[in-house]
Amino acid sequence: MTDLVVHPQAGGLLGTVAVPSDKSIGHRALLLAAIARGTSRIQGFSRGGDNLSTLAGLRRLGVRIDEVGATELRVTGVGLTGLAPPDAPIDCGNSGTTMRLMAGLLAGQAFTTVLVGDASLSRRPMMRVVDPLRRRGASVEGTLHGGGPELTAPLTIAPPSGRLGALSYDLPVSSAQVKSALLLSGLAADGPTVLREPALSRDHTERMLVAMGAPLAILDAGLTLEPGGWDARLEPLDLEIPGDISAAAFLLVAAFVVPGSSVTLRGVGLNPTRTGLLDIARDMAAPLTAEVGGNRAGEPVGDIAAVSGPLLAAQVRGDRVGRAIDEVCVLCALAARAVGVTRIEDAAELRVKESDRLAAMARVLRAFGVPCDELADGLLVEGVRRPLRAAVVDSGGDHRVAMTAAILGLTADGPSRIRDVDCIATSFPDFVGTLRTLGARLHTD
Ligand code: S3P
Repeated sequence: MTDLVVHPQAGGLLGTVAVPSDKSIGHRALLLAAIARGTSRIQGFSRGGDNLSTLAGLRRLGVRIDEVGATELRVTGVGLTGLAPPDAPIDCGNSGTTMRLMAGLLAGQAFTTVLVGDASLSRRPMMRVVDPLRRRGASVEGTLHGGGPELTAPLTIAPPSGRLGALSYDLPVSSAQVKSALLLSGLAADGPTVLREPALSRDHTERMLVAMGAPLAILDAGLTLEPGGWDARLEPLDLEIPGDISAAAFLLVAAFVVPGSSVTLRGVGLNPTRTGLLDIARDMAAPLTAEVGGNRAGEPVGDIAAVSGPLLAAQVRGDRVGRAIDEVCVLCALAARAVGVTRIEDAAELRVKESDRLAAMARVLRAFGVPCDELADGLLVEGVRRPLRAAVVDSGGDHRVAMTAAILGLTADGPSRIRDVDCIATSFPDFVGTLRTLGARLHTD
């Protein structure tokens, strides 16, 4: 297991860097290109571990994916019914998106697939996707967890008897993974898929499906995918994936909390379903600019510039949390350096991510000397103005906990050690190199 040693930052972080391409968009581009008619070109693919799990899984399903240079992929689409039975279980690694979206893609296929994951993914709840898939006639079995109603991986997806049926479904909790799984299954159904969620979750699947010619209507009241009368053809993609705002978030927060910093992040996706952290940071008086400068395959893209400055605590709840669902860990680092107590609520979903992130962040913050209280659905974090206490902390195998701990270490009173950081490669393989480019002093050990 690798450790990361982080030194306190003497001067500001300075420079302009790119971030890895968007992980969520990468999964969708691969999955949808695989079932398109024709060859798709995907540029800027960043080879994070989670996206590689989706890529390997699709190859196992008989999809040809050629790697052209370091970051370009050519995917030869097989059409909606052209996937081949895999010769072994598909390993989704640490990636919940791979498992849940694959479950939707495979629910209407004429062969059986088993989806497995690592220890963390094997603990994560799957009933949220299995239940609505079953309602439309899918045959999905999992492992009953702890004697209760929750299902976990491995998932075994067998052919439905007949075709999948129509589905009208209100998601109890907003989730782009569940929504996307149901839309993917809906492509193979013999009736419409009508979905409503309490608040709009990230909408990359919808944007991409529309761009590829799928019969999807997006209304305020919900989504309707109506395959009746459609020629079942998805047009191939030609897209350059925008930078991942969920990776950019770590560098942004680093710039806000290290005095004297000025950092610009180039070509970051600014889809409004993902920009909650920017709104929260503005509430906390963090100086930033983010302007949409273009559009890549239906996704707004722009540069984000951040400088350090005095930060104020904030109340963070409601739709902002959903639009920053993967940024709550690093938000804790911002709160740790703000004046006052930041209250984060409506974040119960954090308990079922790659780890229980509320418990993990409470543990990490306290190790750095930051007072905090855990709520059932959030955290209270009291900002500390003196340097944080240098710490030795464990990531618990969660990439976002590991990277947040590294950012906290930049403002500590001595070198900090983050244990078990290999997980960072699932989303931001060159995290250490990128921070070094900005002038940070950190190394793996
Ligand atoms: C994702 C959706 C979110 C997010 C995850 C990626 C996606 O999960 O937390 O990291 O790509 O669809 P939920 O769908 O569980 O909210």
